[in-house]
Amino acid sequence: MSKQLLSALLLSSTLVHASNEAQIKQEAKDAILKLKSSLQTRLKANLQKGGVVQAAAFCSRKAQAITHEVNVSFAHETTVHRTSLHYRNSENSPKSDERAVLEQMQKDFESGKALPPLLVKQTDENTYKVYKPIFINKGVCLKCHGNATQRDATAYKTILKNYPQDKAVNYKMGDLRGAFVVKIVQR
Ligand code: HEC
Repeated sequence: MSKQLLSALLLSSTLVHASNEAQIKQEAKDAILKLKSSLQTRLKANLQKGGVVQAAAFCSRKAQAITHEVNVSFAHETTVHRTSLHYRNSENSPKSDERAVLEQMQKDFESGKALPPLLVKQTDENTYKVYKPIFINKGVCLKCHGNATQRDATAYKTILKNYPQDKAVNYKMGDLRGAFVVKIVQR
């Protein structure tokens, strides 16, 4: 094979790969935005209406249903969910491959490395998981995920009733809380 042909082939395969990755990232971004804004708008509305206590009851009852609604709205086999090493709802506990990625993210975070806004992992020939880190980025997060002095005591009572095994507390401002995970199957 001529050198030119070989390099043309190599170049075109890198291009296909790059554009495929761009496409995967775009699809993941759209899915995350959909879940994030659905959760955020309704959390905000409940905070405004009934404060942290009502918001805690709302999240306990509705977060999973909202996630499900968003997932059934996708045309393809795409799914999006939230996960964490210190999860509140065991439905959000990481699968073993997700745990490995979260552990690496946590290590990088602790050693001061900037985490990529989107991380693409191929899990088999045509399946990808895209991770977007979630940080404790607002004071209000601490009302339900902070330490005993920061938490809203009444709201946390409701939370503990619904999640007796809760692990999602004692976070500080800026901490890595977990990740959105989008699973994309390409046909
Ligand atoms: C009013 C209380 C409340 C506030 C405020 C709150 N959360 Fe939560 N959070 C919850 C509850 C309840 C769940 C469990 C939802 C479920 O059943 O999936 C949860 C779950 C999560 C999860 C999914 C993983 C897990 O632990 O199950 C993430 C990630 C998360 N919260 C991040 C945040 C961030 C970031 C903020 C601030 C922007 C925030 N939360 C503010 C109550 C709250």
